[in-house]
Amino acid sequence: MSYARFIPPLKPNQPVPLPSTQITLDAVDHSSTDKIPRELYGHFAEHLGRCIHEGIWVGEESKIPHTRGLRNDVVAALQRLSIPVLRWPGGCFADEYHWKDGIGPRNERRAMINNHWGGVVESNQFGTHEFMDLVEMLGCDAYIAGNVGSGTVREMQEWVEYLTADVDSTLVQLRRAHGRQEPWRVHYFGVGNENWICGGNMRPEFYADEYRRYQTYVRHHQPDRPIYRIACGASEDDFRWTEVVMERAADYMDGLSFHFYTIPTDDWDDKGEATGFAPHQWFAAFRRTARMDDLLTRHSAIMDRFDPEKRVGLIVDEWGTWHNVEAGTNPRFLYQQNTLRDALVAAQTLHIFHRHRERVRMANIAQTVNVLQAMILTDGPRMLCTPTYHVFEMMKVHQNATFLPLSIASPPENESTAGNLPLLDASASRDTEGHVNISLINFDPDTAHEIQLTLPAAETTDRTLAGRILTAESCDAHNTFDEPNRIVPREFTPDSISATGILTLPIPARSIVLISIS
Ligand code: AHR
Repeated sequence: MSYARFIPPLKPNQPVPLPSTQITLDAVDHSSTDKIPRELYGHFAEHLGRCIHEGIWVGEESKIPHTRGLRNDVVAALQRLSIPVLRWPGGCFADEYHWKDGIGPRNERRAMINNHWGGVVESNQFGTHEFMDLVEMLGCDAYIAGNVGSGTVREMQEWVEYLTADVDSTLVQLRRAHGRQEPWRVHYFGVGNENWICGGNMRPEFYADEYRRYQTYVRHHQPDRPIYRIACGASEDDFRWTEVVMERAADYMDGLSFHFYTIPTDDWDDKGEATGFAPHQWFAAFRRTARMDDLLTRHSAIMDRFDPEKRVGLIVDEWGTWHNVEAGTNPRFLYQQNTLRDALVAAQTLHIFHRHRERVRMANIAQTVNVLQAMILTDGPRMLCTPTYHVFEMMKVHQNATFLPLSIASPPENESTAGNLPLLDASASRDTEGHVNISLINFDPDTAHEIQLTLPAAETTDRTLAGRILTAESCDAHNTFDEPNRIVPREFTPDSISATGILTLPIPARSIVLISIS
């Protein structure tokens, strides 16, 4: 993708036109196998605050409508996202979690202290069976994060056996006694989480050796369905961690994780407010998000040195916006509102992942319900879908679709207000039925932009156009429990394509537009 400068000519007394951006879709190679992995649209749910308890799990005694304790409204909303993969139980919680506490009759389960997230009592009512039930209801793959920091090799080995083996071992008999005859399929298993901090404060040299040992016992009990083993990777610009772990353990892993959060202020002590933020924090969020692109390039370059074939996937299993918590809420519950700004960050990040699809094989936004950049917020029996949810719903058309390269030529004024950030961004794909989908982002908070989209002839003949838009009257517009549909996708009617294959679109300020050509 190139951001060449384009200066539109102006005649005297001519009204100032909308800033215009030329986007060209190259000829579509119908034999291309260059897919956007659907796993880039993955999610993450941790025992943190009200994500699992209340957000997903209400228990079988609840008055909130549920199926086997999983709340129906949340499950139904998540089903509409076609979630490819869900990561659980943490996060930092994973390295304190002892899976045997979360199986068996619920009234006999051991309660523990969730030390990392507020010291609250974790009842373990939602454990392995409840998580796998959720995964089956969502029709997604399971990504389980194991405990390296405070767990044992044996504990991890036995969890994998309990989940996936189908012999008459004592643990498998226990699983059957708890109601599950058939083994489950576990697609992904993470060997620890953030082991450089909450997962044991390890040095990369030590972790690399620990990883090699622990992963040995993550056995493939289903030889035709091997588990994809993921090593704990770096955060942000910790390139040394990537270097050391790749050098010492690349041969033993299928994936290496990476964490990066969008903190608009760049200050972990005062991350800024989710709503009512100052105007300059609009662009600050997108500039910080753009660092994801640079960091992925640099971590990938290190991985290339040890794995030039790109066998090992870079797994961005935590990303998203991180703001100050909402006033009056537990600071360790990480509950934040979610605005149009978060929606644009989500779309921007998904576009970045599309571009890094060769190395980045999975990503999991943090987190599913009530925590950080959530899809869903709940308040007792009430729930709402956030603007970020709507981005995931709109953009799911890109999942497993063939990536289509675009070139973008932006006018110079695009950079004057936004630093180095182009004000328009786009990504395109072609799905298995031949529909071309183009997602467009206008970061400009005040001004509509005109896009002139040049399409190859084969994609314009006898085609119909449809569009959807997500925007709102203000940069911090958000849904509330009293007004849950204030910001939702609306129909967007594109003009017809000209005889020369050009589609001219005014893209409203602060919006995400999805154009579908069928
Ligand atoms: O997503 C919240 C926390 O952020 C996770 O538990 C941890 O892995 C990261 O630091």
